[in-house]
Amino acid sequence: MKKLFSYIYPITKRINSDHNGVLELTLVNGRKVLDSKNANYSFGSLQRILEKGLSEIDLTNTNSILILGLGGGSVIKSLRNKFRYSGEIHTVEIDRTIIDIAKNEFDIHESEKLHIYNKDAFEYVKQYSSFYDLIIVDLFIDDKVPLKFYSQGFCGNLLTILSKKGTILFNVGLNESGEEKLKDLLGYFSINNKLTCNTLKNIEGTNTLLIINNF
Ligand SMILES: C[S@@+](CC[C@H](N)C(=O)[O-])C[C@H]1O[C@@H](n2cnc3c(N)ncnc32)[C@H](O)[C@@H]1O
Repeated sequence: MKKLFSYIYPITKRINSDHNGVLELTLVNGRKVLDSKNANYSFGSLQRILEKGLSEIDLTNTNSILILGLGGGSVIKSLRNKFRYSGEIHTVEIDRTIIDIAKNEFDIHESEKLHIYNKDAFEYVKQYSSFYDLIIVDLFIDDKVPLKFYSQGFCGNLLTILSKKGTILFNVGLNESGEEKLKDLLGYFSINNKLTCNTLKNIEGTNTLLIINNF
């Protein structure tokens, strides 16, 4: 009934979160989306942006994926349902409320194939000593990527946990005003001549994606 009603009026629920301010869950046209004050977090344009990036990546030999920034878990649903990925996924999320929302509202549950870590992603990549075939970086507080994730230190740590033929899909946010940050990021990744970087700009009219391949 609620679902039917959502085709006439969107139904919104507001939730106070630990790190992301007030979040909004909206049921519109039978579909639930998660938004922060100024941005879509999950199951809307954000999901389409990451799907565009994933469609450029060959997942055939991918057996382990790390997702930094769980949100409502829309990229997990895309990987499982649209890209038919059935391997292991680890995800790191700083906000306990978000993890609860992913579980209770979007059916994202821990299993043998899905591990959820309630941690700061910056610390996680510093300490972790295993390798991932694909690392998806999707870290935002509202519509901004926290500055530490544009740092050389963070990018260097990502590379230490990337497997030999692995790929990083980095949602760097940014629009025209972020050209300098983008140049810095490309510089950090091109230090290593075993990497290639591909930049996809203006996805959904807003976001820039970096795809970094290790050869
Ligand atoms: C756009 S949402 C992620 C959406 C998600 N990838 C999806 O597919 O639905 C951004 C997430 O990054 C998380 N985040 C921000 N800073 C973080 C940090 N330092 N460590 C871990 N997660 C962080 C936020 O709490 C938020 O859940």
